[in-house]
Amino acid sequence: MSKVTVIGAGNVGATCANVIAHKDIVNEVVLIDIVGNLAKGKALDTWQQAPIDNYSTYLSGGDDYAASEGSEIVVITAGVPRKPGMSRDDLISTNARIVNTVTENIMKHSKDPIIIVVSNPLDVMTLACWRSSGLDSSKVFGMAGTLDTARYRAFLATALGCSPKDIQALLMGGHGDTMVPLPRYTTVAGIPVTELLGKEELDAIVQRTAVGGGELVQLMGTSAWYAPGAAAAQMVEAIVRDEKRIFPVCAKLDGQYGLHDIFLGVPVKLGKKGIEQIIEVKLNADEMALLNGSAAAVKSVIDVYNNMQL
Ligand code: APR
Repeated sequence: MSKVTVIGAGNVGATCANVIAHKDIVNEVVLIDIVGNLAKGKALDTWQQAPIDNYSTYLSGGDDYAASEGSEIVVITAGVPRKPGMSRDDLISTNARIVNTVTENIMKHSKDPIIIVVSNPLDVMTLACWRSSGLDSSKVFGMAGTLDTARYRAFLATALGCSPKDIQALLMGGHGDTMVPLPRYTTVAGIPVTELLGKEELDAIVQRTAVGGGELVQLMGTSAWYAPGAAAAQMVEAIVRDEKRIFPVCAKLDGQYGLHDIFLGVPVKLGKKGIEQIIEVKLNADEMALLNGSAAAVKSVIDVYNNMQL
């Protein structure tokens, strides 16, 4: 693969472009923002980092979608970030308008791209993008689970005093406070985490993960960007390298987990065709109840969005 476009050259988009460049896996990254000079400047800055950090990926930026011509993957980070006290759902109408316009522009210049949505509220923005794009749902999905799982793994590494590299975990559901980290599917170098941490401590970590985005908004006055940008870049890498990696991804469900007409975080296999398989793990009654609760919360945001008739 040779070309990736990142829409939105703000905190998350610029970080994502920078991390993709450092992986040295594509010929070209194009950064597009409504503020063209911002995109141009951040692309130039990252290109000037290439001789220092030793990569060949060329970066350019601007406000003209013609530069995105022929992109194999497009990452959408355009939107307004969450401010303190603002829920992700408050962002619906502003960001849906942005995502719809951006998607139409992408589709004018790239045939059959894979689109990764990052803009919040994530599950609904992914639905909006899929509808506007006319693409197969294996090609349009959202970045949430890779980030939320990373936060969960980082908290576990802190609690255990071990390397986050050795923590494998699964987290499902919406990208919001109802997300469902699954301790039963969490291991530390193969050891079930439930053997290493007590229920109370695990529950506290699960709870902190669910509000992990909000914690950073409180600290910084805007939403996070290093881990989100890197998480989107990791998905790009899995596709570019056709790695068949298993990540929790916000995907369209057509009967999986008994759910229909919804985009929700589930484990998928990611490769060069996009989502190559949605994996249905066995959930017990408690886990299924949590997933259904999260799906209901996402559906209520979808209803709000549908009623806006944007
Ligand atoms: N087309 C292109 N770019 C746009 C458009 C548009 N129609 N509207 C806004 N943008 C750009 C802004 O100019 C800005 O540079 O999107 C960028 C957003 O960057 P930030 O404000 O820094 O926001 P960021 O922290 O990057 O978050 C972007 O990702 O994680 C989510 O919740 C977050 O929805 C938010 C998105």
